[in-house]
Amino acid sequence: MAKAVVVNGDRFIPMISERRIKARVKALARQISRDHRGTVPVFIGVLNGSFVFFADLIREVTIDCEVDFLKLSSYGDTKISTGNVRLLKDLNCQVEGRDIIIVEDIVDSGLSMEYIKTLILRQNPRSFKIVTLLYKKEAVKSDIHLDYVGFIIPRDFVIGYGLDYAQRERNLKEIYRLAPARSDGRGSRLQTVPAAAGTGKRTAQILE
Ligand code: IMP
Ligand code: MG
Repeated sequence: MAKAVVVNGDRFIPMISERRIKARVKALARQISRDHRGTVPVFIGVLNGSFVFFADLIREVTIDCEVDFLKLSSYGDTKISTGNVRLLKDLNCQVEGRDIIIVEDIVDSGLSMEYIKTLILRQNPRSFKIVTLLYKKEAVKSDIHLDYVGFIIPRDFVIGYGLDYAQRERNLKEIYRLAPARSDGRGSRLQTVPAAAGTGKRTAQILE
């Protein structure tokens, strides 16, 4: 597996390998394709963070679909969610009557997703679903329902595979987490378990 990386003096250690990400993305795309057979959904990527996941996911989708993008304000150069969400780029597609699938890299506080949900539902879609690669279950401050979840992760700050720290490291092929401040932290343990509350009846992978 890859080595640790240092960004702005902070050390990040490997958390989810490229192989695991690939397998999970494929499984999510298969499930989404199955659930939307007979429809032409619009996949809406949330820029910038979701662009890598988005590109990989839709290439594994086997039904007809359309794509569009939204851009929200980011955390800036910090590692903490400010809850201050602003729309920087609106959609170009028509939402009314369409099956909408929001594609996010990570749901942390859930405040961005609350904002997106309100924005989309105002425009009367036929259906509304959310897929997120990562879900910081313990950090979520809303009870938003996530339809498809790649991995449930601890509250650690993560980078790579589209996720940035101060706009850097989006091009890493694997996902890394901020190393614990104390040096007794052991590697992440990966298990597959039935998804817990908020993620429906599907399975998600939980990292602890
Ligand atoms: P939320 O509104 O707190 O759920 O945060 C949503 C957005 O913040 C995500 O779409 C990411 O772009 C960014 N974000 C949240 N947690 C992390 C992280 O651990 N690393 C990098 N970006 C993050
Ligand atoms: Mg994002």
